[in-house]
Amino acid sequence: MDRRKISKKTDLSRISLGFWRLLDWHMSEKELQHYIENVLELGITTFDHADIYGNYECEKVFGHILKHKPGLRTSMEIVTKCGIQLKSDKFPDRKIKIYNTSKSHIIESVNNSLKNLATDYIDLLLIHRPDPVISLDEVSEAFYQLEKEGKVIHFGVSNFNPLQFDALYASFDKKLVANQVEISPYQLEHFDNGNLDYCMKEDIMPMSWSPLAGGKLIQPIDEKSRRIHLKLHEISNELGISDISQLILAWLLTHPSGIVPIIGTGKLEHLKSAVGSTEIKLSREDWFRIYIAATGKELP
Ligand SMILES: NC(=O)c1ccc[n+]([C@@H]2O[C@H](COP(=O)([O-])OP(=O)(O)OC[C@H]3O[C@@H](n4cnc5c(N)ncnc54)[C@H](OP(=O)(O)O)[C@@H]3O)[C@@H](O)[C@H]2O)c1
Repeated sequence: MDRRKISKKTDLSRISLGFWRLLDWHMSEKELQHYIENVLELGITTFDHADIYGNYECEKVFGHILKHKPGLRTSMEIVTKCGIQLKSDKFPDRKIKIYNTSKSHIIESVNNSLKNLATDYIDLLLIHRPDPVISLDEVSEAFYQLEKEGKVIHFGVSNFNPLQFDALYASFDKKLVANQVEISPYQLEHFDNGNLDYCMKEDIMPMSWSPLAGGKLIQPIDEKSRRIHLKLHEISNELGISDISQLILAWLLTHPSGIVPIIGTGKLEHLKSAVGSTEIKLSREDWFRIYIAATGKELP
């Protein structure tokens, strides 16, 4: 499988695995270790986390594996996020969920993630969501400090629009390498709001979360997902593709911005199939057939 370069020294796998649903997979420690080893063997080496996943538990569960098999760390790239404070039984003093991108919170969150993940560095740290009371200077200072201490190699954001990205970019004179946003045939927002154009202009990696719309495009649950699902079936049959998730991923991978889809599956056979999508060359016409099925109307 190809790799996606994000800097001179780092590249990521073209497809990433996300651990948001890790607790739903109900794997024992042994099963999870085998899963991770098998996923690495497939060439999927980029693992997406966040401090808050699983009510602050997912990073720890993953970290147990690295504690017992520290040798695995050098074969993978770890992405994690910070900047959301959940209302949680783990923090009884919190009354509500808030966003917190203060310098002290970012640094504290990264230190916790390093401990939980049983690693001494994070390959890519993302600010999870745009914060309406963000202090650009504080975020930049936190990033500089974490970089200087060798705790984080690369920085980026998630769910930012191009203006929000640009504002942070201007105050941090190093490169922000990624914007992780929701992109799938079910969620077309970032084709229209300038995000993907901005990524191409600045050579920033878009990562797409929920690339299969959380499974809705495989098992449709509403009129829109049914409409897209039917078109995906039609095109898959024509192209001899047996699993429509491959067609969805090929649709994302075909985009010239170099989108890295983050898949949320706990099943190795689904990831094997996903790897096959990197071999599919989608024609412009088939790309648009999916796009038009998604918008529900002909192009203007
Ligand atoms: N930055 C953000 O704000 C943000 C927000 C949400 C998520 N994320 C990241 O994005 C990752 C992926 O999100 P997601 O889990 O919603 O992604 P997804 O890949 O769109 O959905 C995964 C779901 O689809 C199901 N599925 C059904 N058929 C499948 C197939 N053929 N192949 C793969 N999966 C299939 C999976 O079930 P099975 O397990 O049975 O395969 C799973 O329940 C998360 O883990 C997280 O890392 C980031």
